[in-house]
Amino acid sequence: MRASSANSVARINIPASLQIGGGAISLVGMEADRLGMKRVLIVSDPYMTKSGLPELVGGILNESGISSTVFGEVQPDPTIQNVVNGLDALRDFGSDGLVAVGGGSSIDAAKAISILAMNDGPLSEYMGYDRIPFAGLPLIAVPTTAGTGSECTKVTVITDSSTNIKMMLLDPHLLPSAAIVDYQLTMTMPQALTAHVGVDTLTHGMEAYVSAKANSMTDVLALSCIGLVGRNLLTAWADPENLSAREGMMLAASQGGMAFSNSSVCLVHGMSRPLGAAFHIAHGLSNAMLLPSVTEFSILGAPDRYAKVAATLGWSIPTDSVETSCVKLVEGLSKLNADLKVPKLSDCDISRLDLENQLGKMAKDALASGSPQNNPTVPDEMAISDLYRRAF
Ligand SMILES: NC(=O)c1ccc[n+]([C@@H]2O[C@H](COP(=O)([O-])OP(=O)(O)OC[C@H]3O[C@@H](n4cnc5c(N)ncnc54)[C@H](O)[C@@H]3O)[C@@H](O)[C@H]2O)c1
Ligand SMILES: [Fe+2]
Repeated sequence: MRASSANSVARINIPASLQIGGGAISLVGMEADRLGMKRVLIVSDPYMTKSGLPELVGGILNESGISSTVFGEVQPDPTIQNVVNGLDALRDFGSDGLVAVGGGSSIDAAKAISILAMNDGPLSEYMGYDRIPFAGLPLIAVPTTAGTGSECTKVTVITDSSTNIKMMLLDPHLLPSAAIVDYQLTMTMPQALTAHVGVDTLTHGMEAYVSAKANSMTDVLALSCIGLVGRNLLTAWADPENLSAREGMMLAASQGGMAFSNSSVCLVHGMSRPLGAAFHIAHGLSNAMLLPSVTEFSILGAPDRYAKVAATLGWSIPTDSVETSCVKLVEGLSKLNADLKVPKLSDCDISRLDLENQLGKMAKDALASGSPQNNPTVPDEMAISDLYRRAF
């Protein structure tokens, strides 16, 4: 039964402050000051650090009398080691707050650093739902991809390199204290990144909407996210300078984050994390590879909801039956991947044998994450293995 039924309660957590719009980055000093920050650790990745954006953020903080230092070592799909190094940097500088500048990886790493500054850890002990004892240091999230929506979620995903597992932690303590959602920071995204993070956003909206944990608050956010993706993703990809498409995708990303973090992700994300960990495929790309076939598999569990997704994307017409709408949805998702030049697994230097060798662990890890259990159609290990094969 969905969480919106009368006898269940939906818990909604979102950041206390969102600054949304072009140029919002200029408000980062004001937000940091409001949060009482005096010495800030700016968390970012090597590419962004080279781009100069973290330094620019440091300059804005300085104008508010706040000193800062940059920790710019976060790698895509951040690891425990990234977090430990960031924590050392935070302690060395005596920081009382953090500003994350970058994609989901930088924001997720900053969330984990903030938590470990106030909790003994280790991080693996907090894996799963609601396991973090104390709030972390205040964190301002400044996303530069559109995207994961991590700026609005109570989730962090950190890879344990010793087990090759992408650990998911979900806890209200992981919500940023504030988010600066400035689409102008996404204008530099190259086409492939725009495509992959854009399909990640769509997957957040779709999975939040079809999840067994969907509720009346997340439905609104999820459908709005899906509609924005339908109207803007292809334009943002084909015309990267298009301000209104970039703005639409940024809004979609934050709405998708709010939606899934208060509903859940489902089978696509459940399968995507082990796939990404096994073959070092970026999060958005591994979701995109799986989305069409996993949707086809899942439709029978919630056909009306999937038909609504097709209509919201603008891929069906009002006179279409539910069945026809669902067919159009699966076709549309495959076409979207083709239009956005999303590769298949077989295009990524991965052989069938490589895949077969990893199937058992990936399927087990997918089920262990808990996400597939929220899916409209709940798979067993064999069904998951089959779905991996179909993404090849
Ligand atoms: N916490 C959550 O709620 C949540 C949700 C979904 C995904 N995630 C996690 O987020 C991570 C993926 O984040 P992501 O997809 O945003 O990518 P990312 O942060 O890994 O960044 C990917 C690359 O894009 C570059 N980049 C970032 N912004 C750019 C810009 N404006 N222009 C040019 N290049 C830019 C980065 O430097 C990096 O090299 C994964 O680890 C995933 O598991 C977290
Ligand atoms: Fe995602």
